[in-house]
Amino acid sequence: MSRPARRRMRRRGPGHMWPGHKTYSQPLMAVTIAVLSQKGGTGKTTAVRTIADILRRIDVGVLAVDLDPQGNLSDYFDIDPDASPTVGDVLSGRASPADAIHGDVIPANLGLAEAELMLGGRMGRELALKRALREVKGAYEVVLIDCPPALGLLTVNALVAAEYALLSAEAQYFAIQGVEQALEVIELARDSLSPELEWLGVLLNIADMRTRHSREAFASLRQHYGEKLLDTTIRASIAYAESAERAVSILDFRPDLATDYLNVTDELLRRLGMDEARGRLGALVGGTHATA
Ligand SMILES: Nc1ncnc2c1ncn2[C@@H]1O[C@H](COP(=O)(O)OP(=O)(O)O)[C@@H](O)[C@H]1O
Ligand SMILES: [Mg+2]
Repeated sequence: MSRPARRRMRRRGPGHMWPGHKTYSQPLMAVTIAVLSQKGGTGKTTAVRTIADILRRIDVGVLAVDLDPQGNLSDYFDIDPDASPTVGDVLSGRASPADAIHGDVIPANLGLAEAELMLGGRMGRELALKRALREVKGAYEVVLIDCPPALGLLTVNALVAAEYALLSAEAQYFAIQGVEQALEVIELARDSLSPELEWLGVLLNIADMRTRHSREAFASLRQHYGEKLLDTTIRASIAYAESAERAVSILDFRPDLATDYLNVTDELLRRLGMDEARGRLGALVGGTHATA
């Protein structure tokens, strides 16, 4: 058994309580979180990359799944573009999920667009990712799925495979509409194939809170969604593009900015009830981040 799996069993043990008041008597598989938005450019991939980096630094075993044919997450993690097999091979049944893990990342490339088309004509097409991840989840504590910039079959696969959905919304006037559309797809998944799916929250991303524009986006999201809106917003900075270009984590590239993602991760761990990991995060940042 891998180290994270052992730790998970110790930590949760039998009968561990989850948010949502479900009691399980079996040791749990990794908690799976789909990160989505109704469109591209809302900072999803950056969020998955950075949250994965933070969790790994506090010894949480994370599997990152790239579910976007553009393969940005795979690039951000500096995965060899020729790495094979990929998530597309897994979804089209050509490869086993375990073989598609390259350094705790299941990468994607343009072949995923083809796999999505093939999948569309099959029975159980919405369940392909869930079935695949079931085989590999046991070795991890958290699985993060980076969704493509559309609410189609791939995103539905991510939602069906996940216990939690995290929405990313860019700080702009139409943020609410984007969140509404993503919520409709979450509802659809919940009504049919994924009744246990929980909405983990919405993150206001690429925000400049010095502008009225961003402050209004935050205020209207708070008004509509209350506590579902994370308190922390991710500041807009060109440093994110620069760090992605260099394939260096923002944690190392600009630690001052990375405090945003440290605070987001703290909020997420709190919502997930992962208190031990949250304690380690507190130790990592020397107790200087928000703990409210
Ligand atoms: N907080 C941020 N501030 C400014 N630019 C950002 C921020 N986060 C991400 N970006 C940049 O915005 C673009 C889109 O981000 P990305 O994470 O790829 O979004 P998505 O996956 O939603 O399409 C990228 O160029 C990325 O470097
Ligand atoms: Mg992306």
